[in-house]
Amino acid sequence: MSLALTRDELIRTHNLIDGQWTDAADGARFPVANPATGERIAEVANSGAADARAATDAAARAFPAWRDKLPRERAELLRRWHALIVANTDDLAKLMSMEQGKPLAESRGEVAYGASYVAWFADEATRIYGDLIPQQQRGKRMSAVKEPLGVVAAITPWNFPLAMIARKIAPALAAGCTVVAKPAEDTPLTALALAALAQEAGLPKGVLNMLSASREQGIAAVADWLADARVRKITFTGSTPVGKHLARESAGTLKKLSLELGGNAPFIVFDDADLDAAVTGLMASKFRNGGQTCVCPNRVYVQAAVYERFADLLATRVAALKVAPATDPDAQIGPMINTRAIDKIARHVEDAVAHGAKVLTGGKRLTELGPNYYAPTVLTGARDDMIVCCEETFGPVAPLFRFTDEAEALRLANDTPFGLAAYFYTQDIARIDRVASGLEAGVIGINEGAVSSEAAPFGGVKESGYGREGSKYGLDDYLSIKYLCQGGFDR
Ligand code: SIN
Repeated sequence: MSLALTRDELIRTHNLIDGQWTDAADGARFPVANPATGERIAEVANSGAADARAATDAAARAFPAWRDKLPRERAELLRRWHALIVANTDDLAKLMSMEQGKPLAESRGEVAYGASYVAWFADEATRIYGDLIPQQQRGKRMSAVKEPLGVVAAITPWNFPLAMIARKIAPALAAGCTVVAKPAEDTPLTALALAALAQEAGLPKGVLNMLSASREQGIAAVADWLADARVRKITFTGSTPVGKHLARESAGTLKKLSLELGGNAPFIVFDDADLDAAVTGLMASKFRNGGQTCVCPNRVYVQAAVYERFADLLATRVAALKVAPATDPDAQIGPMINTRAIDKIARHVEDAVAHGAKVLTGGKRLTELGPNYYAPTVLTGARDDMIVCCEETFGPVAPLFRFTDEAEALRLANDTPFGLAAYFYTQDIARIDRVASGLEAGVIGINEGAVSSEAAPFGGVKESGYGREGSKYGLDDYLSIKYLCQGGFDR
C-alpha cells in the first residue's frame, strides 16, 4: 500500500497551532513507521515544551470567543467536521492502516466509530441544561449553570488513532472548551488529518491545536501542559503508570482529569451459556484490532463442565483467522504496533507455556509476514501464577482459565487492580443480575462482546481510571457547575 491518497493535502507533517501549520520550534522531526514492514512513511514535527506553550497560548486566546458562541453555532461546526470525516473515510482509513497496521476494513469501521462521537456531541452541544433550584429562602433565587472548563489537553494512544482523539476533542468543543492535543508518537498522521478536516470545516484559529512529538519530546511537551495553570483539564487514554504520573504532576494546578487507563478484562462463560454465541462474542471482543484494545478480554474464565468444548470451538474459529497486511482485502488481523509490543506478547505466551499452559493454536511469531506479526493464539490450562493473568497482553492471545462455580468466577474476575470492562455469558436471568452487580468494572458486556458506542458511557473503576467518554455523561467531564444566588426578590 502506498500513501497515495485521493487528497494529498490530508498528509500533514507539521503542527497545527493558532490556525497555522508550523514546524517544531527547533525544527526537529521524527520518523513514523509502517508496522507491517518497519519502513519509514513520513517525518513529522518533533515538538517540545516551546511548542506546547505556543499551543496553550493560542487555545487560551481563542477560548473567550469560542465559549461565547451559541451552542448551535458550535454544533453546526461539529456537524460540518463530521460530514468531512465521513466524506474522507477512504483516505483516513488508508492513513490509519498505514501507520497503525489494522486491516483496511477495520480502519474504515474506526472512521465511522470516531465520526459517530462527533455527530453525537454536535447534538449534545445544544442540550447543556442547568437547574433552577426550588426556592429555599424568601428573597433569594438560586440556580446552577454549566460552564466550559477552559483549555483542555487531550493525549491519545496509538491503538485507535482516530476514534480516541475524536471522542475527546468533540465533547470538549461542544462544551465550549478549546483544545491542545498530542496524538501518540506511533500514529500522528491520522490525527493530524483529522485536525486538517476540522480546519476545513471552519473551526476558528486556536480552538483546536495539535502537535506531534516523539516519546522523549512528548514528555517535555506534556510537562509544560501539566505545569501551566491555564490548562484546566487533561483527558488521557493510555497506560495506568502514565495516568498516575499525570494525576501526580497535575496536582500542582489541580486540573480536572479524565483517565481511561489499562484494563485486564475478564470474560466469563458459565455452563448454561449459549456456547456458540459466547465464542462469537469472544472473537469480536478479543480479536478486534488484533487484541490491542483496552476493553479486550485478557482472561477467559470457562466453567469446568463446558471447558473442553468451548476451547475446541474457539480454537477452530481462531485458527481460521487470516493474518495479513492491511492491503489484503481478506485480512482480519494485521501486524502489532511495534517490536516492544510483539516482544511482550511472545514473553507472555512463553511464560504461560513454561508454567504448564498448552497451545491449542498459534503461539508463535509470523516472521515470514514481517517483523511485527503474531499468530492468533488460544492457550488452555491458564493459571493465576502466569503473567497473562495479571498483565494486559495487548495482543491476539486468549488464555482459558477453568472455574467451578459462580462465586469463584466473580472472585477471580475481580482479583485485579483494574476495572475497565468485563463480559459474561449465561442464560440464567437471576444470575445476570447477580453477576452484573458483582463485577467490578465500568463497562459490562452481558451475552455481548461488542460494547462500545458513542451513546454509552465508557470508562473504568479502580486503577482503570475515572471519567466517562461518550453519552450524555461524556459532556459533563468538560463542564463545571456554577451556582448563582440572586438576592433582592420580594417573595
Ligand atoms: C480503547 O481501547 O481504549 C477503546 C476501545 C473502544 O472505544 O471500544
